[in-house]
Amino acid sequence: MRIWVGLVLISSLVAAPASAGEFLAELSEASTECVDCHSSTTPALYGQWGSSKHFGANVGCFECHGADKGDADAFDHEGRMISIIVSPKDCAKCHSKETEEFMGSHHASAAKILGSLDNVLGEVVEGPAAAMNGCKQCHGSVIKVNDDGSLDPATWPNTGMGRLNPDGSNGACSACHSRHAFSAAQARQPENCGKCHLGPDHPQKEIYEESKHGIAYYGNIDKMNLDNSKWVVGEDYWAAPTCATCHMSATSDLPITHDVGERISWTLRPAISEKVDAKAKAAGKKVKSWQDRRADMQNVCSACHSESFVEAFYFQFDSAIELYNEKFAKPGLRVVKALKANGLVTTDVAFDDEIEWTWFYLWHHEGRRARHGASMMAPDYTQWHGFFEVAERFYMELIPQARELAEHAIAEGKKSEGEAVLAEIEAVLNMDQHKWILGKMDPDEKARRQAERAEFKKRYAQ
Ligand code: HEC
Ligand code: HEC
Ligand code: HEC
Ligand code: HEC
Ligand code: HEC
Ligand code: HEC
Ligand code: HEC
Ligand code: HEC
Repeated sequence: MRIWVGLVLISSLVAAPASAGEFLAELSEASTECVDCHSSTTPALYGQWGSSKHFGANVGCFECHGADKGDADAFDHEGRMISIIVSPKDCAKCHSKETEEFMGSHHASAAKILGSLDNVLGEVVEGPAAAMNGCKQCHGSVIKVNDDGSLDPATWPNTGMGRLNPDGSNGACSACHSRHAFSAAQARQPENCGKCHLGPDHPQKEIYEESKHGIAYYGNIDKMNLDNSKWVVGEDYWAAPTCATCHMSATSDLPITHDVGERISWTLRPAISEKVDAKAKAAGKKVKSWQDRRADMQNVCSACHSESFVEAFYFQFDSAIELYNEKFAKPGLRVVKALKANGLVTTDVAFDDEIEWTWFYLWHHEGRRARHGASMMAPDYTQWHGFFEVAERFYMELIPQARELAEHAIAEGKKSEGEAVLAEIEAVLNMDQHKWILGKMDPDEKARRQAERAEFKKRYAQ
């Protein structure tokens, strides 16, 4: 009786139409050989696979690790050609839609950071082993294959997002789908994204924990239905959104996307923020517009919130980005550029001048924290870890350091260069948003603020 029930179950699984790839009728001969050994040589690895959906669909070791003789990283292992690396190209045999979307995303090019300022910091200022254990574990390494088919230990283990693989493809699906369970449920949890999206320069994980959304999630994990195969917000769960909900998962109107850029309208990474399609548009490329991306994100919100509530949130968020751009980022860059144009800061060597570190802190750490906090509803990151630090860095370090460089130059005989920089500083400080520091606040506003101050003091006199 039990056997009969089992058989019906298996045959119905085989016949079931699979949304992702094909269910195989039985475990292949090659994979059976692998399993015979590996169930004892690597028993927990075998257990992870054994509890996965792949096991249920007879997708075995060889279906993923099988290689052709000509492959760059193929080697003979117990009579079969295999490779250790299972690249997106391999997964694409069964999951072409997810792979295509992923390949079109910024995630897939996350390893292309060699020319960046951050990379000078990682590889030169710090050192190559720092980059190997740090940057590349998030962004991805360039995987090198030794002559015997083994992998160069300086480049693997690595599940960095945009990893460059021996077969020429880029990316690592296991950046989010940890082996060997490859579970969707795990990928839906915020901890999954939190391996990379945390810390001083992009604290999305901490921001989420502070937000009402994180509070609702951690208070209701058991109601999130994370294990369901279908996971549509408003249909299968409603307690809270996770990172995946907003950036990837399905709504009643939208399909799952593996391009995490599909629903964001700004890029908050550069020194000065711009709309996410600005660069592509300027280059004449046709890409999904920022308005369409924003509309898709708002579609996610609308499962739980009203339209006017969501529009009002975007008003607050956009205002914070404008403030950061116009008050601090553009004027700050103007001062740094004036120093460089007048030869008071080197242009060929990065990070050798103190003020370059000051400017980097301002936009790359504090300025991002302010913007990221505002984008995902975390007031402490927006204010105390964000704008407060931006303002202090601007008024108490950037401007004084620039002034000192200029005065030093004048004392050393570079009069015109020093004065040109001082003139830029004066121009910046005389902007409406900055002139308070020169004691030039509008008299009416000053009077209003003094009255408010007197009122505030009374609170404690009661
Ligand atoms: C005769 C036993 C045996 C068979 C059959 C076998 N393996 Fe292995 N495999 C091993 C042993 C032993 C190791 C080394 C484990 C260790 O280092 O702890 C290993 C290592 C590996 C590694 C890691 C290699 C490395 O250098 O890190 C992979 C990947 C692998 N096996 C996959 C497979 C696949 C896929 C199959 C089926 C095509 C398979 N194995 C068949 C015994 C076997
Ligand atoms: C769905 C595809 C898939 C299946 C099925 C699969 N693997 Fe893997 N395996 C991977 C991926 C992905 C990696 C990580 C390699 C990389 O960095 O690209 C990996 C890595 C490994 C490694 C080396 C890493 C380590 O942690 O030691 C071994 C050994 C291994 N697999 C053995 C097996 C065995 C044995 C089976 C069958 C029981 C199996 N794999 C089934 C995708 C798969
Ligand atoms: C030989 C075909 C095949 C290959 C190769 C393959 N898969 Fe799958 N995969 C499937 C099938 C079939 C299912 C659906 C199983 C089900 O729905 O029960 C599946 C399901 C999944 C799921 C959903 C799991 C869940 O918990 O719902 C993920 C994630 C996944 N695969 C990732 C990968 C990744 C990543 C790779 C490459 C490292 C890969 N697969 C390689 C056939 C394959
Ligand atoms: C903990 C994981 C992690 C580490 C370590 C890390 N990064 Fe990043 N990096 C990220 C994430 C996540 C982003 C995207 C943040 C965002 O979109 O807000 C990013 C963004 C970037 C960007 C901006 C890319 C763009 O499109 O504008 C560059 C460049 C960069 N990192 C280079 C580096 C370098 C070089 C190092 C080492 C010195 C490094 N990163 C270390 C995770 C990491
Ligand atoms: C940034 C993290 C991330 C990366 C990278 C990623 N995935 Fe996913 N994937 C997810 C999440 C989250 C889900 C669950 C979506 C849902 O059901 O709401 C998922 C679901 C899936 C599913 C199940 C889809 C379904 O319709 O149920 C498959 C198959 C899959 N991924 C394959 C891949 C493949 C192949 C790659 C590499 C090309 C990949 N994923 C890379 C996060 C990721
Ligand atoms: C309630 C929905 C929601 C949740 C939950 C959420 N995000 Fe976001 N995320 C947003 C919105 C809205 C933006 C800004 C969109 C725009 O630019 O229009 C954003 C922006 C981003 C960006 C772009 C930052 C940049 O520098 O350009 C990243 C990266 C990101 N989120 C990652 C995450 C991660 C990781 C998590 C979970 C820890 C998460 N998000 C949780 C809605 C969400
Ligand atoms: C292994 C590290 C890693 C993990 C895990 C990871 N990311 Fe990222 N993510 C990055 C890096 C690095 C970038 C910056 C890529 C670039 O532009 O170079 C990035 C960029 C992004 C962006 C901006 C995309 C754009 O088009 O500008 C969003 C949104 C995002 N990630 C969301 C997520 C979400 C949601 C998850 C979890 C489901 C996640 N990421 C998991 C490393 C990671
Ligand atoms: C799965 C449901 C869900 C989704 C999807 C969702 N939210 Fe929320 N949101 C909540 C819950 C629950 C709260 C907490 C309500 C409360 O404080 O009473 C909340 C609160 C908020 C708040 C108030 C924050 C505060 O500190 O008072 C804002 C703003 C917000 N959400 C914006 C958004 C935006 C924008 C989106 C889409 C990008 C979104 N939400 C998506 C469930 C959701």
